Amino acid sequence: MKRSLTSLAAGITLLMAGTHAGLAAEQLSVLHWWTSGGESKAIRVLKDDMTKQGYEWKDFAIAGGAGAAAMTALKTQVISGNAPSAAQIKGPLIQDWADQDMLVNVDQSATDWKAHSPSQIDSSMKAGGHYVAAPFSVHRINWLWINKVDLEKVGGAAPTTWPEFFALAEKFRAAGITPVAHGGQPWQDMTIWETVVLSQGADFYRKVLVDLDQKTLTSPQMVQVFEIVQKIRGYFDKGYHGRDWNLATAMVISGSGGMQFMGDWAKGEFANANKKPDADYICAAAPGTSNAYTYTVDSFAFFQQNGKKQASPGQLALAKTIMSVDFQQQFSLYKGSIPVRLDVSMDKFDSCARKSFADEQATIKSGAFLPSLAFGNLQSPVTAGAITDVVTNFMNSNEDPKEGVRKLAAAAKIK
Ligand code: GAL
Repeated sequence: MKRSLTSLAAGITLLMAGTHAGLAAEQLSVLHWWTSGGESKAIRVLKDDMTKQGYEWKDFAIAGGAGAAAMTALKTQVISGNAPSAAQIKGPLIQDWADQDMLVNVDQSATDWKAHSPSQIDSSMKAGGHYVAAPFSVHRINWLWINKVDLEKVGGAAPTTWPEFFALAEKFRAAGITPVAHGGQPWQDMTIWETVVLSQGADFYRKVLVDLDQKTLTSPQMVQVFEIVQKIRGYFDKGYHGRDWNLATAMVISGSGGMQFMGDWAKGEFANANKKPDADYICAAAPGTSNAYTYTVDSFAFFQQNGKKQASPGQLALAKTIMSVDFQQQFSLYKGSIPVRLDVSMDKFDSCARKSFADEQATIKSGAFLPSLAFGNLQSPVTAGAITDVVTNFMNSNEDPKEGVRKLAAAAKIK
């Protein structure tokens, strides 16, 4: 008996070796923009998982926060007939690629997704009723990150209103701390602007950015948004132009910067630097936004390989892994986000993630769980691009807020 088991084991080993030697492992080429410390730690979990499952991971990491450079690289790859097995794409762009008949469906791997995800997110992974993308996690955008030591030094508290915010910014400035750490790149400018829009209320946000309602877009309240944004700009340091988001986060981590407006991938950087919420830093909803939640969901969309309309075994395995309970948990622990899956325990998560989860659930109920325009989860790329141009131009000039509003209303008409 013992001998036959031994020879069986030897046979299996040989068989496996034969498989490895004979059949080349399927290569998964994967395009994404996760290159910062926290981001790369998070995506490495997936790479290791797929490698363990016997797939060869070919990484196309294209640096550049929020993925503008990655989206250009993706177009080049597709045009030259080298579409990746999976690419990080989100929101309406998923539909665009599906409309071009470039994607494959991964329904087979998605049998329990609907039952365990918020419905807004679940439906955005589908085109023509089929799953063509797999979601990683939910990032909240409307956060303000504050260095706790700096805060104590100036005797301040996390601001809940704009007047409190500006008072704190003044205190930081007086103490020689850069009040607002920022990177002057269009998407980071949009992060601030969009958050200020949200501070005027979820209904206002919806009318402005979801409905593109001209009356609200040209209202005095919109002028106020531009005025607040202009005032915030006054608290950046001189070196903000072109700075990457993670370098701005590094300023808050070291304490040379007091605060940063950024989605919670910033928390991935704090975690990577061994900093703890409540002890080293504070995550607070940006002023005036505690009852609302702007979100972005990262996802991988799956591209046809060699003209095949069906997903490959590797693509199916990738989709299944991304939405598995274990992966969802570990990825978000590194990334700073919360899982898409609602059946993942939050026990291992820190206070910021738990707050994010509680607020997600509350705002889904109240109707204040809102997709982010800045991160491509809302509007066509053309409209979003036109609005972004107006905002960035405003933040880099001394334009009158009323002129900003006039241009915004015109940009919102560009389809
Ligand atoms: C966002 C993405 C995040 C994070 C960020 C900065 O678009 O959703 O996961 O990576 O860009 O790179």
